[in-house]
Parts: sequence; C-alpha cells; structure tokens
Amino acid sequence: MPKIVTLPGDGIGPEVTAAAVEVLREVAPDLTFEEHAIGGMAYEAHGDPFPQRTRDALADADAVLLGTVGGAQNSPWNSLPRPMRPESGLLALRKALGCYANMRPVRVQPGLEHLSPLKPELARGVDILIVRELLGGVYFDQDRSLDGGTAYNTMRYTTLEVERVARMAFWAAEQRKGRVTSVDKANVLEVSELWRRDVQALRDRSYRSIHLNHEYVDSVAMLIVSDPSRYDVIVTENLFGDILSDLAAVIPGSLGLMPSASLGDGAGLFEPIHGSAPDIAGKGIANPAAAIMSAAMLLRHGLKRSDAANQIERAVALALREEPTRDLGGRADTKSFTNAVLEAMGTPVG
Ligand code: NAD
Ligand code: IPM
Ligand code: MN
Repeated sequence: MPKIVTLPGDGIGPEVTAAAVEVLREVAPDLTFEEHAIGGMAYEAHGDPFPQRTRDALADADAVLLGTVGGAQNSPWNSLPRPMRPESGLLALRKALGCYANMRPVRVQPGLEHLSPLKPELARGVDILIVRELLGGVYFDQDRSLDGGTAYNTMRYTTLEVERVARMAFWAAEQRKGRVTSVDKANVLEVSELWRRDVQALRDRSYRSIHLNHEYVDSVAMLIVSDPSRYDVIVTENLFGDILSDLAAVIPGSLGLMPSASLGDGAGLFEPIHGSAPDIAGKGIANPAAAIMSAAMLLRHGLKRSDAANQIERAVALALREEPTRDLGGRADTKSFTNAVLEAMGTPVG
C-alpha cells in the first residue's frame, strides 16, 4: 500500500488537492494518504512553515502531493523573517526531498486549441517539457544579504548540479523527439558560461543521439509564445525556469493547466506550478486540472503506473472539452469539473 503524503497548504491549495486526491482514490484504491502541514497554515499552527512532523512523515513516503503555499501581496506572512515565510517552507521541502529536476510539461491536447489565447495554428500540437533546475542558483545560495540600501543574491552553480539536471533532460528527450534546448544568459553571466559548457560537454560525452542547441533566455521568452512548436525539451536554471514556465502557461491557456513533477534522489514531489491564488481562494472556482494532472504525474513517475496516469489525463482532456473552468472562459467550478473528470474516467476509450 503506497503511502502518499499530502500537503494542501494555503489559498486554493486545499481545494485543488482535495480534487486530486478524489481522483487518485478512484484510479488507485490501494493508496494510503497522510495529510500534513506546510506553508503559512503550518506557521500559524506550529510556528514553522515546514514543521518537524511534516519532515518526519517524508521518511517512508512513496510520493508527496503538494497544493500551494503563500498569501496575498498584503499578507502579514510577507513581513516575517524570511525562514518563517510560507515560500521558505516549500523550498526547504524541495531541499529535504533532494528533488533537483522539476519537470513542467506544456501540452495542448488535440481539440483544446480553442482554450489558448494564441492563434489555433500556433497552439495546435504543442508539447514542450520544461526541465527546471530546482535546488540551486539564486534561490538557495547562502551568500545573500539585505543591509540598508544594499542587497545582493548569488547565482552559483557547480558542474555537479548542472550535469545532474541536464542528464534528466537528456533522458526525457530520449523518450520524446530527441531535441534539447538549453536556456541561459551566457552573453552576460559567468554562471551561464559554465552551464552551457557543462551541458554541451555532457551531450558530447554521453548523449550523442540528442540534438542540443543553446538559446538566450530573453529570446526564448519571446519565441516560446510566438513559435512554441520549435521546442521539445527545454532545460534551464532555477529562476529562468520559474519565469519561463508561468509564461508558457499562456500556451494551453491557464496556469490551472500546468502540472509538475520534481524528481531526484528520493520520493518525488508533485505539485501544480501555480500559486495560492488569493484572489479566488475559498470561492470553490479554482481550476483543479493542474493538481489532478500532477496526481497523474505522481502515478507515472512516482509509482510507475502509466496506465492510470494516462486514464486521468484522458479524462481531464474530455472534461475540458465538455465544460472548462472560469479561468478558461467556461462555467465549471472546482466541484463540477472534478465530477466531470471522475465521470470521464468511466468512459470507455475511443
Ligand atoms: P498565482 O499563481 O497564485 O496566481 C496568479 C493568477 O492566476 C491569479 O489571478 C490566480 O487567480 C490565477 N490562478 C492561479 N492558479 C489558478 C487556478 N488553479 N485556477 C484558476 N486561476 C488560477 O500567483 P501570485 O498571485 O503571484 O502568487 C500568490 C501566492 O502564491 C504568493 O504568496 C506566491 O508566493 C505563492 N506561490 C506559490 C506557489 C507554490 O506553492 N508552488 C507557486 C507560485 C506562487
Ligand atoms: C513555483 C513558485 C515557487 C518558486 C515559490 C512559491 C517559492 O513560484 O513553484 O513556481 O519560485 O519556485
Ligand atoms: Mn513560480
């Protein structure tokens, strides 16, 4: 009986996680779920955004399903000492799990081009995998400070950190179209020079069948929405990957359609890429598709149950065709959309 640790967190996190758990229970009745605290709600309850009890629960977890953390722009959480803030709890969780490769698929399913704000001919057939480095760069380097009128953060990468995430990108590309675009800012940053050199060297050493090219992050920000079909796998450092993946959400039509899997040393972490959406939290209208598709990624990558994962993804596409949620211009709310997914899972293939 695989053990799934669920961490619903803040804002719409509990709403979309409940939907994902409901779907998981349906396709995999043998799973056991253990819910724990993370983020702002964990700080309120335990004085820590990543409490020891949550950390302890990870030890024998087979996979972790996360909702979202964080408050609104005016939340008092944003004035807490940084280690006590909700986002720090999430970063500490990622570190504790050692999941350095964050896979963020961007896919437009056949017949769902109309949900994209892009012209249908641009959106049609898009299938990109953004592999975002998740444990390094400016996010984690301890050489950082805010002192009076001066502040700095440090973007530092080592060859080991670059190679392990690049390996994950090459591995994924081998099962796709065999193309990897490494994204950096090597025209300005030394850290990008190292990134580019090490990704290329690894390709030349061990992945000769992969077609690798290098592009600058500013140019990719334009091309990913104006010509998304040019990309297969994109691999990039932490901060660039964070920004590019929210931007890429424009392609399918909403952040609510962007799941992720974070893989690495131990149990995987599965979470939607969107935040706690304070503007709609508690209203029952959040799009649960990203969380439900993250549950599908949990089945595929965390438990090696691809059939069940495919079943969920097919049902989400059917439900989206029937009646999309409000972020996509439809009328479905969280509950009715989840019910439509559950119903579609019972629909025979064809
Ligand atoms: P956000 O992703 O929460 O929201 C951006 C916009 O997208 C909002 O208008 C929101 O309503 C909409 N949106 C997001 N997810 C949606 C969904 N599933 N269905 C319908 N609409 C959706 O980004 P933000 O407002 O910049 O951040 C809010 C908080 O979330 C901040 O505290 C931030 O730090 C945090 N955050 C957390 C995560 C995470 O937990 N992984 C990710 C990003 C942001
Ligand atoms: C994400 C979020 C997080 C990140 C924040 C909340 C720490 O934006 O998962 O994309 O920047 O990684
Ligand atoms: Mn983000």
